[in-house]
Amino acid sequence: MLAIEARNLSKRYGDVEAVSDLSFEVKKGEIVGFLGPNGAGKTTTMRMLTGFIPVTDGTAHIAGHEIFADPIGARRSIGYLPENPPLYPEMTVNAYLTFVAKIKDVPRATRKQAVESAADRCGLHDVVHRVIGDLSKGFRQRVGLAGAIVHDPPVLILDEPTVGLDPIQIREIRGLISNLAAPEHGEARHTVILSTHIMNEVEAICERIILINRGRKVVDQPLAELVQGGQSLEEVFARATSRDEQGDIAVALGAEEAPL
Ligand SMILES: Nc1ncnc2c1ncn2[C@@H]1O[C@H](COP(=O)(O)OP(=O)(O)OP(=O)(O)O)[C@@H](O)[C@H]1O
Ligand SMILES: [Mg+2]
Repeated sequence: MLAIEARNLSKRYGDVEAVSDLSFEVKKGEIVGFLGPNGAGKTTTMRMLTGFIPVTDGTAHIAGHEIFADPIGARRSIGYLPENPPLYPEMTVNAYLTFVAKIKDVPRATRKQAVESAADRCGLHDVVHRVIGDLSKGFRQRVGLAGAIVHDPPVLILDEPTVGLDPIQIREIRGLISNLAAPEHGEARHTVILSTHIMNEVEAICERIILINRGRKVVDQPLAELVQGGQSLEEVFARATSRDEQGDIAVALGAEEAPL
């Protein structure tokens, strides 16, 4: 069974086609880098997958649950770290994670254990009784991540998980993400799709790249294949996004020339 199967997803905001006819698959246990320039449609796609916003067209399956036919099953299968995780600064880490576990329907009997496990896995053991607002940005991001995994979902959707962090925290969060996807007892515990603008982050933890530009998919390939000719991921990114721009310019010129 696929972890994520997106079929012909589209999202329009008025005249803006934020995501256009986007299809892709993520296999169980994969860590996929979801790339694209600012405004390419990454966050919009993630919000459609997580049910935060309705799609204009298309559909998706999350761990076998179709987002329309079984929205609750789909949502339960997802741990989502949004671009700006909604943390409550006055709450302690423990209280916040307990609150999130409750919202995510973790049964009362296992809630305490679920919170402890998520906190441990995100390196929060020593700060569970601290108030979130007093933590550093790196630790607040860990709290967001712990909130995303507290119900032990098979699929993690992480929108720029390391943005704004210092190099040490970036490395630690990356390690954490790799560990989350590592097999346990021979089976992958989580599948991860993450967006980022940091190319060496992708090279450090992702197996496959999906690159979108202006809402359309332009690259979907294993990382090893993409860089095998000796080109850097930055070059791949620049070429894939400029090719489309030139294409658009050609179309625009064509349209202008047509009446002549
Ligand atoms: N609520 C909205 N209303 C109108 N337009 C929107 C809305 N949300 C996103 N857009 C537009 O949709 C397009 C895609 O935005 P999106 O935030 O998905 O891009 P992104 O790839 O996540 O960019 P970034 O790398 O900057 O986070 C942009 O043109 C954006 O302005
Ligand atoms: Mg975004």
